[in-house]
Amino acid sequence: MPVGLDARYLENFIQQHELDAVQPLVYAAHEQLHARTGMGSEYLGWLTLPLNYDKGEFSRIKAAAEKIKRDTDVFVVIGIGGSYLGARAVIEFIKSPLYNLKQKDTPDIYFAGNSLSPSALSEILELCEGRRVSINVISKSGTTTEPAIAFRIFREYLERTVGLDEARKRIYVTTDRQRGTLKSLADREGYQTFVIPDDVGGRYSVLTAVGLLPIAVAGCDIDALMGGAALAQKSLLEPDVAKNDCYLYAAIRNILYRKGRSVELLVSYEPSFLLMAEWWKQLFGESEGKNGKGIFPASAIFSTDLHSLGQYIQNGTKILFETVVLVDDTQKDIAVGRDPQDIDGLNFLSGNTLSHVNRKAFEGTVLAHTDGGVPNVVLNMPAADERNLGYLIYFFEKACAISGYMLGVNPFDQPGVESYKRNMFALLGKPGFESQRAGLEKRLKR
Ligand code: PA5
Repeated sequence: MPVGLDARYLENFIQQHELDAVQPLVYAAHEQLHARTGMGSEYLGWLTLPLNYDKGEFSRIKAAAEKIKRDTDVFVVIGIGGSYLGARAVIEFIKSPLYNLKQKDTPDIYFAGNSLSPSALSEILELCEGRRVSINVISKSGTTTEPAIAFRIFREYLERTVGLDEARKRIYVTTDRQRGTLKSLADREGYQTFVIPDDVGGRYSVLTAVGLLPIAVAGCDIDALMGGAALAQKSLLEPDVAKNDCYLYAAIRNILYRKGRSVELLVSYEPSFLLMAEWWKQLFGESEGKNGKGIFPASAIFSTDLHSLGQYIQNGTKILFETVVLVDDTQKDIAVGRDPQDIDGLNFLSGNTLSHVNRKAFEGTVLAHTDGGVPNVVLNMPAADERNLGYLIYFFEKACAISGYMLGVNPFDQPGVESYKRNMFALLGKPGFESQRAGLEKRLKR
C-alpha cells in the first residue's frame, strides 16, 4: 500500500488489550460514516469523491489549466483555510517550496487573501507588475472577508491593467454551484466558474476544483493524484484495525489522547512537507477541536526543528506524541564527497547519500524520543509523487472522520471559527452587527 503504519515505536506506550478495547468504537465510527448516520453526514461527499467525481468538471479544470499555462505569467490564487491550504500544500510537496524561483513552463503562483496584511498583498501586487496575470478566487460561502477583500483589490487591478473584457477572461471563480455573492458576481460578469460540491466542506475539498485547478496549473499530474486517492478509497474499507492502517492510526490517537497525550506533532524530514502539515493541522484541528475536546495538532520539520523544539520533545512535559511521515524515495539525492585532508572529519560519510544520512537522523531521533517517553507513530510513504500523496490525503481525511466520531464530536462543522468573524464585523461597523459594537469597544478600551 502507498502508506503503511509502522507501530513498532509504540511498544512501550500502547498494549494490544488497549487496541482491543477501542475496536468497538472504531466499528461504530465506521458504521456511522459508511451508513451516513453520524453527525454532519450531509458533508460526506469527500468519502466517495476519488471514484465518483464529476468527470466533466475535471476536464474543464484541465482545459482551463492549459489555457492559464499558455497565457499567464503570474497566477494569483485567492482563498483562506480549506479554500487555500490544500492547493499550496500539494504544489509545494510535489513541485517545491521554491517553485516560483525555478525555471519552468508554468506560471508563478502566489496565494493571496489568506491574511489581512497590507504588506503581504502589496508585495504580490508588485510581483504582478508588467506580467500577464490570471486570478482564481476560491470561496465556498463567497462571503469570507479576507479573500473577498483581496479579490476586490485584484479584480480592480486586472480591470485597470488589461481592461474589462480581458479581465473577464482571466478571472476563474471556484464557489458554490448556485448560492452566494461570488456566484452572483461571476454570473453577472461572465467569469468561468468551478463548483465546490454542497456535500464537501472546505478542509475536505482539496480533491475538488478548489485544489485541482491551481495544482494542475503548477503542472502536477491530477490524474495520478485522484488515482492515489481512489486506491485509498477502495483499500481503507476494512473495519478491523489490524487490517486497516487508517483506522489503526485513528485508534492509536484515541488511546494516546485518553492517556493525556493532548498534542500531536506531525513530523517530516522533508522541508517540502511544511504546507502539507499546515493542511493536516487545519483538517484535524477544525474537525476535532470542539466541546472542550480534541488533540491539538502541531507540526515540525526535522532536522530543522530538532534544533528548536527537540529539547522540549525529549525532556519537556509529557503531553506530546509524534506522527512521522517518512518518505522513502525523495527522487533526488546527493552523495557526500571525499576530502583528502578531511579537516571537517566527515570522510567517514564519504560515498553515503544524504537520504541515507537523513534516514539515520530519523532512526537516532525516534529512538531518543521514545527513550524520552514520547510515543512515535510512523507512516511510511514510498515516494514523494502525486499518486502516493493522493493516497495520503484520503488516508488523513478518513482517519480524521473516524477520530472525530470516536471522540464524540461532529468532524464536519466549525462553529468556533465564527466567533472572531462576528467580533471583527462588529468592530468594523458592518451593517447588522451594531448592537455588539459598543460592548466590544468598551472591553478594548479597558
Ligand atoms: O474548513 C472550512 O470550512 C474553512 O476553513 C473554510 O474553508 C474557510 O473558512 C474558507 O471558507 P470559504 O471557502 O467559505 O471562503
